[in-house]
Amino acid sequence: MSVNKYVEDALKGEHGEAERIAAKVLMAISKASKSEGFIKITSAHISGVNYYNIGDAGLELLNDISKVARFAVPTSINPCGAPVLENDATFSKELVEKQRVIYNAFMKMGAKNSCTCVPYDGLNVPKKGEHVSWAESSAVVYGNSVMGIYTNKEGGISALAAAILGFTPNYGMHLDENRKPQKVIRLSFEIKGAVQFGALGYFIGKLTKEIVGIKGIRTANKEELKALSASVGTYGPQPMFVIEPETKDAEVITLEENQLKEALSKINDDVQPQAIVLGCPLLSVEEMKKLAYLVQGKHFNLPAYVFVDRISFSKLADEEKEALADSGLKIYFDICPSLSYLPETFGYTSVVSNSAKHYFYTKHQSKINVRLMDVEEIVDKYVKMNV
Ligand code: F3S
Repeated sequence: MSVNKYVEDALKGEHGEAERIAAKVLMAISKASKSEGFIKITSAHISGVNYYNIGDAGLELLNDISKVARFAVPTSINPCGAPVLENDATFSKELVEKQRVIYNAFMKMGAKNSCTCVPYDGLNVPKKGEHVSWAESSAVVYGNSVMGIYTNKEGGISALAAAILGFTPNYGMHLDENRKPQKVIRLSFEIKGAVQFGALGYFIGKLTKEIVGIKGIRTANKEELKALSASVGTYGPQPMFVIEPETKDAEVITLEENQLKEALSKINDDVQPQAIVLGCPLLSVEEMKKLAYLVQGKHFNLPAYVFVDRISFSKLADEEKEALADSGLKIYFDICPSLSYLPETFGYTSVVSNSAKHYFYTKHQSKINVRLMDVEEIVDKYVKMNV
Protein backbone atom coordinates (compact mmCIF):
# COMPACT_ATOMS: atom_id res chain seq x y z
CA MET A 1 0.00 0.00 0.00
CA SER A 2 1.36 3.46 -0.86
CA VAL A 3 2.21 5.88 1.91
CA ASN A 4 -0.41 8.37 0.82
CA LYS A 5 -3.11 5.68 0.51
CA TYR A 6 -2.31 4.55 4.08
CA VAL A 7 -2.75 8.13 5.34
CA GLU A 8 -5.99 8.54 3.35
CA ASP A 9 -7.39 5.36 4.89
CA ALA A 10 -6.26 6.52 8.34
CA LEU A 11 -8.15 9.76 7.78
CA LYS A 12 -11.32 7.75 7.12
CA GLY A 13 -10.80 5.95 10.43
CA GLU A 14 -9.89 2.62 8.83
CA HIS A 15 -6.87 2.18 11.14
CA GLY A 16 -8.63 3.19 14.35
CA GLU A 17 -9.56 6.37 16.17
CA ALA A 18 -6.05 7.34 17.35
CA GLU A 19 -4.62 7.07 13.84
CA ARG A 20 -7.57 9.06 12.45
CA ILE A 21 -6.81 11.94 14.82
CA ALA A 22 -3.06 11.71 14.15
CA ALA A 23 -3.66 11.73 10.37
CA LYS A 24 -5.97 14.75 10.73
CA VAL A 25 -3.30 16.70 12.63
CA LEU A 26 -0.58 15.78 10.13
CA MET A 27 -2.81 16.45 7.12
CA ALA A 28 -3.38 20.01 8.39
CA ILE A 29 0.40 20.47 8.69
CA SER A 30 0.88 18.91 5.26
CA LYS A 31 -1.56 21.37 3.66
CA ALA A 32 -0.10 24.39 5.49
CA SER A 33 3.45 23.43 4.48
CA LYS A 34 2.48 22.35 0.93
CA SER A 35 4.28 19.07 1.58
CA GLU A 36 5.07 16.54 -1.12
CA GLY A 37 2.73 13.97 0.38
CA PHE A 38 3.89 11.88 3.33
CA ILE A 39 7.03 9.94 4.12
CA LYS A 40 7.54 6.88 6.31
CA ILE A 41 9.54 7.47 9.48
CA THR A 42 11.75 5.08 11.45
CA SER A 43 11.81 6.94 14.76
CA ALA A 44 9.99 9.61 16.77
CA HIS A 45 11.12 11.73 19.69
CA ILE A 46 8.48 13.68 21.57
CA SER A 47 8.85 16.87 23.60
CA GLY A 48 6.13 18.32 25.84
CA VAL A 49 6.70 15.78 28.60
CA ASN A 50 7.63 18.19 31.40
CA TYR A 51 4.55 19.03 33.51
CA TYR A 52 5.78 22.63 33.78
CA ASN A 53 5.52 22.92 29.98
CA ILE A 54 2.16 21.26 29.35
CA GLY A 55 0.20 21.72 32.60
CA ASP A 56 -3.07 19.98 33.48
CA ALA A 57 -4.51 20.39 29.98
CA GLY A 58 -1.58 18.53 28.42
CA LEU A 59 -1.71 15.89 31.13
CA GLU A 60 -5.40 15.23 30.43
CA LEU A 61 -4.89 15.13 26.66
CA LEU A 62 -2.07 12.58 26.97
CA ASN A 63 -3.98 10.52 29.50
CA ASP A 64 -7.02 10.39 27.19
CA ILE A 65 -5.10 9.63 24.03
CA SER A 66 -3.06 6.90 25.76
CA LYS A 67 -6.29 4.91 26.16
CA VAL A 68 -6.49 4.37 22.40
CA ALA A 69 -3.10 5.20 20.85
CA ARG A 70 -0.02 3.01 20.37
CA PHE A 71 3.25 4.12 18.81
CA ALA A 72 3.98 2.73 15.36
CA VAL A 73 7.74 3.39 15.45
CA PRO A 74 10.50 3.40 18.13
CA THR A 75 9.64 6.46 20.22
CA SER A 76 11.53 8.26 22.96
CA ILE A 77 10.40 11.14 25.15
CA ASN A 78 12.00 14.28 26.56
CA PRO A 79 12.97 14.80 30.22
CA CYS A 80 10.40 15.61 32.90
CA GLY A 81 10.07 18.38 35.49
CA ALA A 82 10.51 16.02 38.45
CA PRO A 83 11.79 12.50 39.10
CA VAL A 84 9.38 9.77 38.07
CA LEU A 85 11.19 6.54 38.90
CA GLU A 86 13.08 7.56 42.08
CA ASN A 87 11.55 8.99 45.24
CA ASP A 88 12.99 12.38 46.10
CA ALA A 89 11.32 14.52 48.75
CA THR A 90 12.99 17.68 47.39
CA PHE A 91 10.31 17.82 44.69
CA SER A 92 6.69 18.51 45.65
CA LYS A 93 4.49 15.43 45.98
CA GLU A 94 1.78 16.94 43.79
CA LEU A 95 4.27 17.73 41.00
CA VAL A 96 5.76 14.23 41.12
CA GLU A 97 2.31 12.62 40.99
CA LYS A 98 1.28 14.69 37.98
CA GLN A 99 4.57 14.03 36.26
CA ARG A 100 4.09 10.30 36.82
CA VAL A 101 0.64 10.41 35.17
CA ILE A 102 2.25 11.96 32.08
CA TYR A 103 5.12 9.46 32.10
CA ASN A 104 2.72 6.52 32.48
CA ALA A 105 0.59 7.76 29.59
CA PHE A 106 3.65 7.72 27.34
CA MET A 107 4.67 4.28 28.63
CA LYS A 108 1.18 2.95 27.84
CA MET A 109 1.53 4.18 24.26
CA GLY A 110 4.84 2.31 23.97
CA ALA A 111 7.52 4.95 24.56
CA LYS A 112 10.99 3.88 25.64
CA ASN A 113 11.22 3.97 29.41
CA SER A 114 13.91 6.59 29.85
CA CYS A 115 13.32 10.33 29.52
CA THR A 116 16.09 12.03 27.62
CA CYS A 117 16.87 14.89 25.27
CA VAL A 118 19.82 12.93 23.84
CA PRO A 119 17.98 9.96 22.30
CA TYR A 120 20.92 9.56 19.93
CA ASP A 121 23.06 8.43 22.88
CA GLY A 122 21.77 4.86 22.72
CA LEU A 123 18.05 4.91 23.36
CA ASN A 124 16.66 5.79 19.94
CA VAL A 125 19.33 5.91 17.24
CA PRO A 126 18.22 6.10 13.62
CA LYS A 127 20.74 5.39 10.88
CA LYS A 128 22.21 8.04 8.61
CA GLY A 129 19.79 8.95 5.82
CA GLU A 130 16.67 7.81 7.67
CA HIS A 131 13.60 10.06 7.97
CA VAL A 132 12.31 10.63 11.49
CA SER A 133 9.99 12.96 13.40
CA TRP A 134 11.87 14.53 16.28
CA ALA A 135 10.84 17.35 18.55
CA GLU A 136 13.43 18.80 20.98
CA SER A 137 15.45 21.35 19.09
CA SER A 138 18.90 20.33 20.38
CA ALA A 139 18.37 16.75 19.23
CA VAL A 140 16.88 17.88 15.90
CA VAL A 141 19.90 20.06 15.09
CA TYR A 142 22.33 17.34 16.22
CA GLY A 143 20.41 14.70 14.26
CA ASN A 144 20.32 16.63 10.98
CA SER A 145 23.81 18.13 11.25
CA VAL A 146 25.93 15.42 12.89
CA MET A 147 24.05 12.13 12.36
CA GLY A 148 22.78 12.89 8.85
CA ILE A 149 19.17 11.96 9.63
CA TYR A 150 16.23 13.87 8.16
CA THR A 151 13.82 15.64 10.48
CA ASN A 152 11.97 18.90 10.75
CA LYS A 153 12.00 20.77 14.06
CA GLU A 154 8.76 19.21 15.20
CA GLY A 155 6.54 20.31 18.04
CA GLY A 156 5.31 17.93 20.75
CA ILE A 157 1.93 17.39 19.04
CA SER A 158 3.25 16.82 15.51
CA ALA A 159 5.88 14.35 16.77
CA LEU A 160 3.22 12.59 18.86
CA ALA A 161 0.93 12.32 15.81
CA ALA A 162 3.79 11.04 13.64
CA ALA A 163 4.77 8.47 16.30
CA ILE A 164 1.18 7.13 16.22
CA LEU A 165 0.82 7.16 12.44
CA GLY A 166 4.37 6.18 11.46
CA PHE A 167 4.42 8.85 8.73
CA THR A 168 5.14 12.56 8.53
CA PRO A 169 4.54 15.24 5.90
CA ASN A 170 7.37 15.29 3.37
CA TYR A 171 8.63 18.88 3.35
CA GLY A 172 11.37 21.12 4.75
CA MET A 173 14.35 19.17 6.08
CA HIS A 174 13.08 15.93 4.50
CA LEU A 175 14.03 17.30 1.08
CA ASP A 176 17.71 17.47 0.11
CA GLU A 177 17.32 20.76 -1.73
CA ASN A 178 16.37 22.50 1.54
CA ARG A 179 19.43 21.29 3.45
CA LYS A 180 22.00 23.46 1.70
CA PRO A 181 23.53 26.40 3.59
CA GLN A 182 22.74 29.89 2.33
CA LYS A 183 25.48 31.51 4.39
CA VAL A 184 28.91 30.21 5.37
CA ILE A 185 30.81 31.29 8.48
CA ARG A 186 34.55 30.98 8.14
CA LEU A 187 36.32 30.84 11.49
CA SER A 188 39.59 32.76 11.51
CA PHE A 189 40.79 31.08 14.72
CA GLU A 190 40.49 27.77 16.56
CA ILE A 191 37.52 27.28 18.87
CA LYS A 192 37.48 24.83 21.73
CA GLY A 193 35.15 23.68 24.49
CA ALA A 194 31.40 23.59 25.02
CA VAL A 195 31.25 27.27 26.02
CA GLN A 196 32.88 28.58 22.84
CA PHE A 197 30.83 26.21 20.68
CA GLY A 198 27.72 27.43 22.54
CA ALA A 199 28.73 31.03 21.82
CA LEU A 200 29.13 30.11 18.14
CA GLY A 201 25.57 28.75 18.18
CA TYR A 202 24.37 32.03 19.69
CA PHE A 203 26.23 33.99 17.00
CA ILE A 204 24.66 31.88 14.23
CA GLY A 205 21.16 32.16 15.72
CA LYS A 206 21.41 35.94 15.94
CA LEU A 207 23.04 36.31 12.51
CA THR A 208 20.40 34.69 10.32
CA LYS A 209 17.33 32.50 10.07
CA GLU A 210 18.91 30.58 7.19
CA ILE A 211 20.90 27.36 7.32
CA VAL A 212 24.54 28.12 7.94
CA GLY A 213 27.66 26.27 6.85
CA ILE A 214 30.73 26.45 9.08
CA LYS A 215 34.28 26.30 7.79
CA GLY A 216 37.44 26.24 9.86
CA ILE A 217 36.47 24.00 12.77
CA ARG A 218 39.70 22.06 13.08
CA THR A 219 38.50 19.48 15.58
CA ALA A 220 35.22 19.04 17.42
CA ASN A 221 34.30 16.28 19.81
CA LYS A 222 30.78 15.07 20.56
CA GLU A 223 30.42 17.34 23.62
CA GLU A 224 31.27 20.38 21.51
CA LEU A 225 28.93 19.40 18.67
CA LYS A 226 26.14 18.81 21.23
CA ALA A 227 26.77 22.27 22.69
CA LEU A 228 26.72 23.87 19.23
CA SER A 229 23.53 22.01 18.26
CA ALA A 230 21.74 22.94 21.48
CA SER A 231 22.72 26.57 21.13
CA VAL A 232 21.73 26.85 17.44
CA GLY A 233 18.41 25.22 18.37
CA THR A 234 17.89 27.72 21.19
CA TYR A 235 18.93 31.00 19.64
CA GLY A 236 17.91 30.46 16.02
CA PRO A 237 15.11 28.85 14.04
CA GLN A 238 17.46 26.71 11.92
CA PRO A 239 16.98 22.94 12.21
CA MET A 240 20.58 22.27 11.15
CA PHE A 241 24.05 23.53 10.27
CA VAL A 242 26.57 22.08 7.84
CA ILE A 243 30.22 21.51 8.76
CA GLU A 244 32.64 22.21 5.90
CA PRO A 245 29.97 22.67 3.20
CA GLU A 246 30.89 22.38 -0.44
CA THR A 247 28.57 25.22 -1.44
CA LYS A 248 30.32 27.69 -3.71
CA ASP A 249 27.52 30.24 -4.10
CA ALA A 250 26.78 30.98 -0.43
CA GLU A 251 27.71 34.31 1.11
CA VAL A 252 30.86 33.89 3.24
CA ILE A 253 31.21 35.74 6.55
CA THR A 254 34.49 35.64 8.45
CA LEU A 255 34.12 35.30 12.21
CA GLU A 256 36.96 36.92 14.16
CA GLU A 257 37.89 35.94 17.71
CA ASN A 258 36.71 39.24 19.19
CA GLN A 259 33.26 38.71 17.62
CA LEU A 260 32.94 35.33 19.34
CA LYS A 261 34.03 36.94 22.64
CA GLU A 262 31.37 39.60 22.11
CA ALA A 263 28.75 36.87 21.47
CA LEU A 264 29.83 35.03 24.62
CA SER A 265 29.55 38.17 26.71
CA LYS A 266 25.82 38.26 25.84
CA ILE A 267 25.24 34.85 27.40
CA ASN A 268 27.60 34.94 30.36
CA ASP A 269 26.89 36.83 33.59
CA ASP A 270 29.76 37.99 35.75
CA VAL A 271 28.43 36.40 38.92
CA GLN A 272 29.71 34.39 41.87
CA PRO A 273 27.77 31.12 41.51
CA GLN A 274 26.02 29.45 44.42
CA ALA A 275 25.58 26.12 42.60
CA ILE A 276 26.83 24.12 39.63
CA VAL A 277 24.47 22.61 37.06
CA LEU A 278 25.69 20.32 34.30
CA GLY A 279 23.55 18.44 31.81
CA CYS A 280 21.70 20.61 29.32
CA PRO A 281 21.42 18.60 27.08
CA LEU A 282 21.68 15.60 29.44
CA LEU A 283 25.25 14.36 29.81
CA SER A 284 26.49 11.61 27.53
CA VAL A 285 28.60 8.66 28.60
CA GLU A 286 31.73 10.40 27.28
CA GLU A 287 30.98 13.56 29.27
CA MET A 288 30.36 11.58 32.46
CA LYS A 289 33.54 9.56 32.00
CA LYS A 290 35.45 12.79 31.63
CA LEU A 291 33.79 14.26 34.71
CA ALA A 292 34.53 11.10 36.73
CA TYR A 293 38.17 11.32 35.69
CA LEU A 294 38.40 15.02 36.57
CA VAL A 295 36.81 14.70 40.03
CA GLN A 296 38.49 11.47 41.12
CA GLY A 297 39.73 11.83 44.71
CA LYS A 298 38.26 15.33 44.93
CA HIS A 299 35.16 17.01 46.32
CA PHE A 300 32.95 19.85 45.09
CA ASN A 301 32.92 22.87 47.35
CA LEU A 302 29.65 24.13 45.87
CA PRO A 303 26.38 22.20 45.57
CA ALA A 304 26.68 20.40 42.23
CA TYR A 305 23.72 18.96 40.33
CA VAL A 306 24.32 16.74 37.32
CA PHE A 307 21.61 15.60 34.91
CA VAL A 308 22.30 12.51 32.92
CA ASP A 309 20.79 10.14 30.48
CA ARG A 310 19.94 6.90 32.35
CA ILE A 311 21.17 4.67 29.51
CA SER A 312 24.47 6.54 29.28
CA PHE A 313 24.95 6.36 33.05
CA SER A 314 24.46 2.59 33.00
CA LYS A 315 27.48 2.32 30.69
CA LEU A 316 29.88 3.79 33.27
CA ALA A 317 32.31 1.50 35.09
CA ASP A 318 31.69 1.02 38.82
CA GLU A 319 34.81 2.98 39.74
CA GLU A 320 33.60 5.91 37.60
CA LYS A 321 30.22 5.89 39.35
CA GLU A 322 32.05 5.81 42.69
CA ALA A 323 34.31 8.73 41.75
CA LEU A 324 31.22 10.77 40.84
CA ALA A 325 29.35 9.85 44.03
CA ASP A 326 32.41 10.50 46.23
CA SER A 327 32.84 13.98 44.76
CA GLY A 328 29.59 15.03 46.44
CA LEU A 329 27.68 15.85 43.27
CA LYS A 330 24.05 14.84 43.05
CA ILE A 331 22.97 12.89 39.97
CA TYR A 332 19.45 13.12 38.53
CA PHE A 333 17.84 11.03 35.81
CA ASP A 334 14.90 11.86 33.54
CA ILE A 335 14.78 15.57 34.54
CA CYS A 336 15.40 18.69 32.47
CA PRO A 337 17.63 21.01 34.52
CA SER A 338 16.67 24.12 32.58
CA LEU A 339 12.85 24.11 32.65
CA SER A 340 12.10 22.63 36.06
CA TYR A 341 12.48 25.64 38.40
CA LEU A 342 15.63 24.17 39.96
CA PRO A 343 16.82 27.44 41.55
CA GLU A 344 13.51 27.65 43.42
CA THR A 345 13.57 23.92 44.30
CA PHE A 346 17.18 23.77 45.46
CA GLY A 347 17.40 27.34 46.77
CA TYR A 348 20.19 29.03 44.80
CA THR A 349 20.09 32.43 43.11
CA SER A 350 23.10 32.19 40.79
CA VAL A 351 24.60 29.25 38.97
CA VAL A 352 27.52 28.15 36.81
CA SER A 353 27.04 25.81 33.86
CA ASN A 354 28.78 24.97 30.60
CA SER A 355 25.58 25.28 28.57
CA ALA A 356 24.45 28.25 26.49
CA LYS A 357 21.01 26.64 26.39
CA HIS A 358 20.89 26.43 30.19
CA TYR A 359 21.76 30.13 30.26
CA PHE A 360 18.76 31.00 28.08
CA TYR A 361 16.08 28.94 29.82
CA THR A 362 17.22 29.41 33.42
CA LYS A 363 17.52 33.13 32.86
CA HIS A 364 14.02 33.31 31.42
CA GLN A 365 12.29 30.88 33.77
CA SER A 366 13.91 31.71 37.12
CA LYS A 367 15.37 35.18 36.40
CA ILE A 368 18.76 34.39 37.95
CA ASN A 369 22.29 35.08 36.77
CA VAL A 370 24.18 32.32 34.99
CA ARG A 371 27.93 32.04 34.55
CA LEU A 372 29.33 29.92 31.73
CA MET A 373 32.53 27.90 32.15
CA ASP A 374 33.80 24.69 30.60
CA VAL A 375 33.72 21.60 32.80
CA GLU A 376 37.53 21.60 33.21
CA GLU A 377 37.40 25.20 34.49
CA ILE A 378 34.49 24.44 36.83
CA VAL A 379 36.37 21.50 38.30
CA ASP A 380 39.52 23.54 38.56
CA LYS A 381 37.75 26.30 40.45
CA TYR A 382 35.10 24.53 42.51
CA VAL A 383 36.53 21.09 43.25
CA LYS A 384 39.13 20.51 45.98
CA MET A 385 41.36 17.54 46.76
CA ASN A 386 40.02 15.22 49.47
CA VAL A 387 42.18 15.47 52.60
FE1 F3S B 1 17.42 18.90 27.45
FE2 F3S B 1 16.06 20.47 29.02
FE3 F3S B 1 18.29 21.31 27.99
S1 F3S B 1 15.23 19.06 27.55
S2 F3S B 1 18.41 20.28 26.03
S3 F3S B 1 18.07 19.61 29.41
S4 F3S B 1 16.41 22.50 28.16
